[in-house]
Amino acid sequence: MKEDKATHSATWKSPSNLAIVKYWGKKDFQEPVNPSVSFSLSRAYTKTTVSLAQKKGSGFTFYLDNREEPGFRPRIQKFLDHVRARVPLIGNHHINIFSTNTFPHSSGIASSASAMSALVLCLADLQQQVSGRHHLNIREVSALARMGSGSAARSVYGGWSIWGRIPEIPESSDHYAIHFPDEIHPVFKTLHDDILIVSGQTKKVSSSAGHTLMNDHPYREGRIIQARENTLKLIRSLKQGNMDDFIEVTENEALSLHGLMMSSMPSYTLLHPNSLRIIREISDFREATGLPVTFSLDAGPNIHLLYPHHIEEEIIAWEKRQLQTFCEDGCIIRDRVGSGPEKIIDTEG
Ligand code: PMV
Repeated sequence: MKEDKATHSATWKSPSNLAIVKYWGKKDFQEPVNPSVSFSLSRAYTKTTVSLAQKKGSGFTFYLDNREEPGFRPRIQKFLDHVRARVPLIGNHHINIFSTNTFPHSSGIASSASAMSALVLCLADLQQQVSGRHHLNIREVSALARMGSGSAARSVYGGWSIWGRIPEIPESSDHYAIHFPDEIHPVFKTLHDDILIVSGQTKKVSSSAGHTLMNDHPYREGRIIQARENTLKLIRSLKQGNMDDFIEVTENEALSLHGLMMSSMPSYTLLHPNSLRIIREISDFREATGLPVTFSLDAGPNIHLLYPHHIEEEIIAWEKRQLQTFCEDGCIIRDRVGSGPEKIIDTEG
C-alpha cells in the first residue's frame, strides 16, 4: 500500500454497542421512530486513522486491514456527502481512511456502529486541527455518526446511552444520542456480554431493508408504544439495579425485534434453530439456579448472553458444558460494558 505524504492525521478507536431497547424503523433522514438504549462494548471496536493526503482535489481511499477495499466505497461516499457541510475539509482534501476491527464480520457485533463512529471522531478531530479551533461537540459528533449508521450515534459514549426523543427524558433527541443521564447501578456498569456465534454467515436481509419494512408494518404504532414503555422501564431498572425488570425488558425487546421481522411483508426470519435451543437453555438454567442471566439478539441469529460480573465463573462453566455445542466451531466472543472511544496519540505508522 502506497500512501501519499500526510499533512494531518488522527487515530481513534471506537466501540460497537448492543441495544437493549432496539432501534427498528426510521423516519425523515436517519431518525429513529422509537427511542433506543444501549451500552458500548469494551473489546469489540474499530480503530481508524484518517489522514489528509497531499494529492490535489477531494475524494477518499478506504483501506480495511491495510488493503484497499472498494466494496465499502458507495456507503462511505454517501456518508461523506451527507456530512460535508459540517466537515468542510472533506470537500478540500483527498482523505485516506485506514480501518481495522478487533472482531470478525457477521459475528453478531454491529461493525457499522464502531466503524462509522470511529470515522466521524477522526474527521471531527482533523477538522479541528485544520481550522485550529474546537469545532464539534460530542452531540454533534453523535449526530454525524447517525448519518452513517443509526446505531453509531450511541457508540460515541462509554457505558450506557439513549438515542431518540422521549418526553420523559428532557435532553433526549432524535438527532443525536445522549449519555445515560443518571447514575447507573454498579451491577450494570460491569455487565458481561458473551456473544455465542450460532452462525457467521452474512444475513440474507440487511438492517436497512428491515428498517424500511417498518414503514408499512401492521404493528408499527404498537411497536412505538412498546419501545417507549420498555425504555422507561429499562431506565428505572438500570438506576435501581432491578435485575428482574431488566431481564423482562431485554428478552421482550430481543424477541419483539425478531417478531417484527417475522410479521413484516414480506416476512423473514434471521433466527437459526440453535438460537432457539440456546434461548430454551437460558430460561431452564435461570429457573433451575435462580442466577440472573438473560439474552439479547441483534439483527441476526447470534445470542448475546448478558450477566453480572459476580457470577462470571458459574456462567462460563455452564456455557462450556451446555451452550458451546450450539455455537459454530464452538465460537464465543467474551465482552462487557466498555468505557467508550479513545484517541490514539502514538500510532505506529
Ligand atoms: O444502525 P443500523 O441501521 O445498522 O440498525 C441497527 C438495528 C439494530 O441493531 C437491530 C438495533 C439497534 O438499536 O442497534
